[in-house]
Amino acid sequence: MRTPMFCTAAAGVLSIASASPLKPRNNGTMVYEFTDLTPSPELNWAPCYDNFTCAYLEVPLDYANSSIGTTNIAFIKKWSQNSSAEDILVNPGGPGGSGVGYIMANLEVLETKFGPQYNYVGFDPRGVSRSGPSLDCFPGFPIARNIFDAEMFTAVDDSTESSLAKSFQRSAAFGKWCTEVLAINGTAQYAGTVAVANDMLHYIELRAKELGHPPEEAKLWYYGMSYGSVLGATYAALFPNRIGRLVIDGVVDSEDYYYNGWRTALETTDEDMKTFYKYCYEAGPELCLFHQNATSPEELEKRAIATLESLKKSPIVFADPATGVAPVIVTWQDVIAIAFSISYSPISGFPGWDLVLTGLEKGNATLAAISTMKAQILVPPTENFQDSRTLIACIDNAGRFNTSTFETYEEHIEYLFNQSYYGGPIIGSIVGPACRSVNIYPPESQLFKGIPSANKTSNPILFIGNKLDPITPLSSAKKMSSLFAGSEVITVDAVGHTTSGLCSKCLDKYTMAYMADATLPPPNTVFWLQY
Ligand SMILES: *[C@@H]1O[C@H](CO)[C@@H](O)[C@H](O)[C@H]1NC(C)=O
Ligand SMILES: *[C@@H]1O[C@H](CO)[C@@H](O)[C@H](O)[C@H]1NC(C)=O
Ligand SMILES: *[C@@H]1O[C@H](CO)[C@@H](O)[C@H](O)[C@H]1NC(C)=O
Ligand SMILES: *[C@@H]1O[C@H](CO)[C@@H](O)[C@H](O)[C@H]1NC(C)=O
Ligand SMILES: *[C@@H]1O[C@H](CO)[C@@H](O)[C@H](O)[C@H]1NC(C)=O
Ligand SMILES: *[C@@H]1O[C@H](CO)[C@@H](O)[C@H](O)[C@H]1NC(C)=O
Ligand SMILES: *[C@@H]1O[C@H](CO)[C@@H](O)[C@H](O)[C@H]1NC(C)=O
Ligand SMILES: *[C@@H]1O[C@H](CO)[C@@H](O)[C@H](O)[C@H]1NC(C)=O
Ligand SMILES: *[C@@H]1O[C@H](CO)[C@@H](O)[C@H](O)[C@H]1NC(C)=O
Ligand SMILES: *[C@@H]1O[C@H](CO)[C@@H](O)[C@H](O)[C@H]1NC(C)=O
Repeated sequence: MRTPMFCTAAAGVLSIASASPLKPRNNGTMVYEFTDLTPSPELNWAPCYDNFTCAYLEVPLDYANSSIGTTNIAFIKKWSQNSSAEDILVNPGGPGGSGVGYIMANLEVLETKFGPQYNYVGFDPRGVSRSGPSLDCFPGFPIARNIFDAEMFTAVDDSTESSLAKSFQRSAAFGKWCTEVLAINGTAQYAGTVAVANDMLHYIELRAKELGHPPEEAKLWYYGMSYGSVLGATYAALFPNRIGRLVIDGVVDSEDYYYNGWRTALETTDEDMKTFYKYCYEAGPELCLFHQNATSPEELEKRAIATLESLKKSPIVFADPATGVAPVIVTWQDVIAIAFSISYSPISGFPGWDLVLTGLEKGNATLAAISTMKAQILVPPTENFQDSRTLIACIDNAGRFNTSTFETYEEHIEYLFNQSYYGGPIIGSIVGPACRSVNIYPPESQLFKGIPSANKTSNPILFIGNKLDPITPLSSAKKMSSLFAGSEVITVDAVGHTTSGLCSKCLDKYTMAYMADATLPPPNTVFWLQY
């Protein structure tokens, strides 16, 4: 294997932060906002964002009943030199992640992985960013949403009976509020994953028409990361004979996603974080500030946990107008959220974790404070990521995971905390119990039943999993592969979430070969990625 290096821009996959903004600057011919496009039931491509074309596609809210109305889906496309090249549709994860934003920011990642000879198509799935139906629980009041979400999605605190009771009550508020607000439009229930899978089928049929090919034979070419694996697996289960290529990277256990409130997601989160202490120890006190002549990685981890735990009794006040951020009381919950988000991309994140921890151990919470969601509370968000993420997960779950009593809630939280110190408090907050008062259910035609699987697909699926992934453990990739006949898993001996941010010529060789002619790697392919 060649020595890999770290490539630019990691994905916003199952992420706890939102994607970066694009400044609109419409000058007539070139479009910089989807609202400047007229929605159309055909693919009306218009030049947009300098290097791309965009289409605002009008689709039925419910493909099973056209009288319910329509909504609009934002598509962006980067054409290759060859105008009849295959379109690879991309989903960056979430749920709630914007495919339009991903294509604009990460084209190089895609062209490196699969080659420049394809067209890359990003779209905002239903309920996300530029696409309808709206899942905005605070239309016109983005700062109110910041404040509400910072409270709602704060990590679960199980340190006392009363803090846990408060977390339990909090888990009901999001659904109560959003259900009522969204009832005004009455269309939120059409934003589930089954509907999005149907949008993808609809898209490839329209594309086939453009090319003069029979629509009913069109096949999907797709790259999905993280939650994008749920979308990919759902599509594959619904339309197994309409698969051209399907690459799924950072594989979610779709059964757990649809039924269980993400109970299998955190198997390797803590092992992922442990690598920080290992690498810090190996790097030595010169390169890793937190080291301070420790005699083992275990000692480092013990000091880190003691520092974090001390925040439970003594949160640190941070109030410094000179920093330009809102005053923050830095709690254990805030810092756990920082750690969990860092576990997604260790290579870029660990140096920051080193500084955050070193500061906190000395009672200096400056870096921790400015890294919290609370510090940004007065900055209008560019995208409504968090509400979309939670609501889409809840719509897909459709009430099948039920923590409406304190006892069931307590069991679930204990289960997650047992599984992961860093991930349990976050996953226990942002999904699962957060759905317990969301009374928005998909229509029968968009309810996924059973477990995504297929005994025969028109082309085999390629799954990719990292050995230590903090939110999509390798076991999920193996499980999903076992449900799709003929599929294979490539295991990458890497730490972090998905391979989107990793640069590996070895992996690229496999992904390119697969795109070229559906060649799969030999069974049980594992390769090592050195940082
Ligand atoms: C604005 O439009 C003109 C054509 O009307 C084009 O030449 C120019 O490049 C555009 N500017 C930008 C920033 O896209
Ligand atoms: C368009 O492409 C140029 C040249 O590759 C690049 O510098 C620019 O950032 C791109 N613009 C967008 C919006 O991606
Ligand atoms: C389709 O939707 C309309 C409007 O909501 C409803 O009146 C009608 O019964 C539905 N038709 C079917 C076949 O479900
Ligand atoms: C363009 O793409 C089509 C579809 O993949 C392919 O059949 C054709 O050979 C390509 N043409 C060139 C010049 O690469
Ligand atoms: C209802 O839908 C419209 C159009 O998508 C949107 O602008 C508005 O914010 C939505 N209202 C609510 C309460 O979500
Ligand atoms: C670590 O050891 C070096 C060499 O003995 C010493 O100079 C340094 O002060 C020590 N650092 C700490 C934080 O104890
Ligand atoms: C706290 O940490 C910040 C960031 O590293 C630093 O700029 C600041 O000087 C520190 N404050 C004190 C009192 O040491
Ligand atoms: C959840 O469980 C409670 C108590 O067992 C029950 O009353 C409620 O109807 C259930 N909710 C759903 C959506 O199934
Ligand atoms: C959590 O772990 C403890 C100690 O191993 C065990 O007794 C308990 O049953 C576990 N709880 C759950 C819900 O799995
Ligand atoms: C696959 O085949 C098994 C055994 O015949 C059957 O029980 C199962 O329902 C099939 N699954 C699908 C998705 O068709």
